[in-house]
Amino acid sequence: MSENPIGIFDSGLGGTSIWKEIRSLLPYEDTVYLADSKNAPYGEKSKKDILALSVKNTEFLLSKGCKIIVVACNTATTNAIDYLRKTYPVSFIGIEPAIKPAALQTKSKTVGVLATKGTLSSSLFASTSENHANGIEVIEREGKGLVRLIEEGKIKSIETKELLQKYLGPMLEKDIDCLVLGCTHYPYLIPVLKELLPKEVKIIDSGLAVARQTKAILTKEKLLREVNTVGKHQFYSNIDTLVLEQFLDSKNSNTIFVRQLDF
Ligand code: DGL
Repeated sequence: MSENPIGIFDSGLGGTSIWKEIRSLLPYEDTVYLADSKNAPYGEKSKKDILALSVKNTEFLLSKGCKIIVVACNTATTNAIDYLRKTYPVSFIGIEPAIKPAALQTKSKTVGVLATKGTLSSSLFASTSENHANGIEVIEREGKGLVRLIEEGKIKSIETKELLQKYLGPMLEKDIDCLVLGCTHYPYLIPVLKELLPKEVKIIDSGLAVARQTKAILTKEKLLREVNTVGKHQFYSNIDTLVLEQFLDSKNSNTIFVRQLDF
């Protein structure tokens, strides 16, 4: 089993921000990445639909022999991970908006969270905020439209900048000094966010923490690959893989991109 790949899924290419952290922390591991771009954005779907899509993605990754599954999507984690953990015999690593680190770092006692509607309305997010943001004002904002623009590769477009200005304005008026990126697509906006945010606002995302947790669980379960040869990576997408390939910029003999329509 230790020779089997790590499975990673997201509604699209956002989870590749997590995949990059995993690959650099665990360079000998093989990975299978599923981008369900045909069904993106998940953030505007009902809990029931997000759950059904998460089940479908999990079963696809299990059919590829994955030894652990990283739910590289805040929306899927906050709506489906409890069910997945109860239902399947492998470990699941999830990602949630990093409220706790932000609460520990803020000096203005006000933090902003940019996430999808599906994440912000979930009960898991509500309990995390309640448990870790005591005495801290959390300004939440749905990043409506951003996932679609990122999926289309329009990161530096005027439309993206204008949406971000609209969403960040009320947070800046409230004097946030930390901005939590509560969606795995958003780390790709960091260059634009840096242009728009004052220097003192820290941008917080949980990609590295997820990679570390994946390593910790694989170590505990004695599932780390024992052969020290560079890992092989398979990327499956149910739309054209071109944008995915551009995002990863990692065309080499260890990486394959497969367009597969039936998931
Ligand atoms: N990347 C996802 C997340 O972290 C999902 C975004 C979406 O499809 O709405 O929430």
